[in-house]
Parts: sequence; C-alpha cells; structure tokens
Amino acid sequence: MTIKTVGVIGCGLMGSGITQVSAQAGFPTVVVEANQELLDKGLGNLGRTLDGLVAKAKLEAKEKGAILGRITGTTRLEDLKACELVVEAITENQELKNETFAKLDQLCPPHAILASNTSSCNVTAMAAATKRPAQVLGLHFFNPVPLMKLVEVVRTILTDDATVKTASGWVQAIGKVPVAAKDATGFIVNRLLVPYLLEAIRVYEAGLASLEDIDQAMKLGCGYPMGPFTLLDLVGLDTTLYVAEVMFEEFREPRFAPPPLLKRMVAAGYLGRKSGRGFYTHASS
Ligand code: CAA
Ligand code: NAD
Repeated sequence: MTIKTVGVIGCGLMGSGITQVSAQAGFPTVVVEANQELLDKGLGNLGRTLDGLVAKAKLEAKEKGAILGRITGTTRLEDLKACELVVEAITENQELKNETFAKLDQLCPPHAILASNTSSCNVTAMAAATKRPAQVLGLHFFNPVPLMKLVEVVRTILTDDATVKTASGWVQAIGKVPVAAKDATGFIVNRLLVPYLLEAIRVYEAGLASLEDIDQAMKLGCGYPMGPFTLLDLVGLDTTLYVAEVMFEEFREPRFAPPPLLKRMVAAGYLGRKSGRGFYTHASS
C-alpha cells in the first residue's frame, strides 16, 4: 500500500510538528483539533515556525506557501476518511485514545493504517478497540518534532509485517530514522529517559543543588543538549506526570514513581513552556 494522504489528530506540541514534517515532505496532510480555537492556535504555531525558517533563509517563501497549501485543518474527524495513514497525537490518556481509535476504525478506509504517537499508553489496547488490529502500531516522534530525527516504530503482538514496513517507509520518506520497539510502556527512549528526569526532580527536592546548576552540570558534564529541567519544561510537566504514573503502574518500581513536587506543580498549573511556567518562567507561546 502506498501512503498518499496523511491524517494527524491533535494539533498541540507534537501534532503540529508531525503535520509540519509530513506536509514539508510533500504529503497532503489533514489535521484535526478538538475545536476551532485550538486548531487556529496549533496552525498559528506551525506558521510561525515556517516564518522563522524563511527569515533564516532556510526555506523559500514560495515553498512555505506550498507546505501550507498541503495542510487542511479541521475539527471534524470525518475529514480523515481519505487518509491511508492517520497519526494520533491527542492528549496522553488511554481511554480517550481507545475511543478515538474505535471512531477512526469506523470512518477510515479498510486499508488505512492507524498509528499512535503515545509516550506511554498501551498501543495493543488501542488496536483491540478496532476491527483492524493488524494495521495499528505506534509511531513515537520526539520533541521538537522538526528537529529530532528519531521515530520509534512500535509493534504490538497484533501488528502485521506489511503495516510495519509501510509505516517505516513513510517515516523514512519524511526524513526521519525509524527504530523498531515492542509495545512495552515507555518503549526504548522513555524507559531510560523518564527515570533520569524524575531523579533530577528528587535531587532538586533534596536540596542538592539549584535548578540552574543541575542543568548546567548535565549539559557540560555529560554533553547533553539541554539539562533535565529545561527538557522537562519542553516535554510538559503534565505529560511527564501522566507518563510516570503509567510506567509506575506497569512496572511497580520506585524509579518510575512521580515525585511529590511534580504532582504539585501540575496541580498548580505549572506545565512548562506551554503554560508559560514550569521549573522556569517562559515567554508565553
Ligand atoms: N523546523 C525545522 N527547522 C527548525 C525548526 C523547525 N520547527 N525550529 C528550528 N529549526 C532549525 C533552526 O532554524 C536552527 O537552524 P540553524 O542552526 O541553521 O540556525 C536549527 O534548527 C537548530 O535550532 P536551535 O538553535 O533552536 O536548536 P538548538 O541547537 O538549540 O537545539 C534542540 C535544540 C534540538 C531542541 C536541542 O536542544 C535538543 O536536542 N534538546 C533535547 C531534546 C530532547 O531530548 N527531546 C526528546 C524529548 S522526550 C520525547 O520527546 C519523548 C516523549 O515521549 C516525552
Ligand atoms: P498537547 O497537550 O500539546 O496536545 C494535545 C492536543 O490534542 C491538544 O491540542 C488537544 O486539544 C488535542 N485533542 C485532545 N483530544 C482531542 C480529540 N478528541 N480530537 C482532536 N484533538 C484532540 O500534547 P502533546 O505534548 O502534543 O502530546 C500529544 C501526544 O504525543 C501524547 O500522547 C504525548 O504523550 C505524545 N508525546 C509527547 C511528547 C512531548 O514531549 N510532549 C513527545 C512524544 C510524544
């Protein structure tokens, strides 16, 4: 099966990036948001990213117009009915994702592949909510999507070979590098990354050092591109908390348990860059 038209659900942090890279690679891309205001916000962010590339002469104005011309924004899930591949990038919540997959299954063509960008939810459960479990898999992108080369191609025990092959081919066609992973909570990257981020919060809570010094230490001491608190603010503290809770529930190991400070920051609405305040204060986006 050849993928010609791509659908993305959710135009938040990740969905807007996936929409951008898909359209940039030449695929007509339909993106669905929950309401018009959020759609305008997500597409506005995407437009500003392209403007930034034009300003830096990394993209021609004409090409920006062509990319935007390949993107259709909508609030109707039914508008995905012509897509051969749909990538779900909605809020990290298992129930919401299962419901969305059941709906997609009813309105997408029978040959379409349904993928989830989930960080921690159970992809097998999403597949089981459809009547095409062999055509469901995870396509886990990294944040910020336009800059990060990796996509984890997550196979469930129900996914067939043809689906993995077609989806991996699309990942390469949009300029990313696929790695294969099994459907176990966190896949490869989050299994290793999340305990590190949670430990950074514990170390800070224990008063070992300041936020800035912990970030600086990991940047200069390990050569990481950003320290753990800058990265936590980029990922989103609400997403990190949800992922940690799911991983703790799955493995029952203390290293995945969300520290009290993380829970309280999310309760206070400190979600990171997306809310203007996380461990650091950010100019609102
Ligand atoms: N599209 C295309 N190009 C873009 C772009 C976009 N949206 N935004 C910026 N660029 C270009 C810029 O124009 C810039 O080009 P020049 O160097 O030619 O000027 C280039 O990309 C680099 O931009 P920056 O200077 O802003 O980037 P940087 O060098 O400071 O690196 C970073 C930024 C890539 C984010 C780097 O800090 C990094 O790798 N951080 C770690 C990110 C990370 O770990 N992500 C994973 C999070 S975990 C996750 O995602 C999984 C999960 O499930 C939670
Ligand atoms: P986000 O909150 O920025 O965006 C989610 C968007 O989905 C919101 O704009 C919301 O309005 C929309 N949405 C919710 N329900 C919807 C529905 N039924 N129909 C259409 N749109 C709907 O979150 P995000 O950070 O972009 O995360 C999205 C997914 O990507 C999550 O599963 C998350 O775990 C995963 N992910 C996140 C990161 C990260 O660093 N933030 C990295 C990799 C994967």
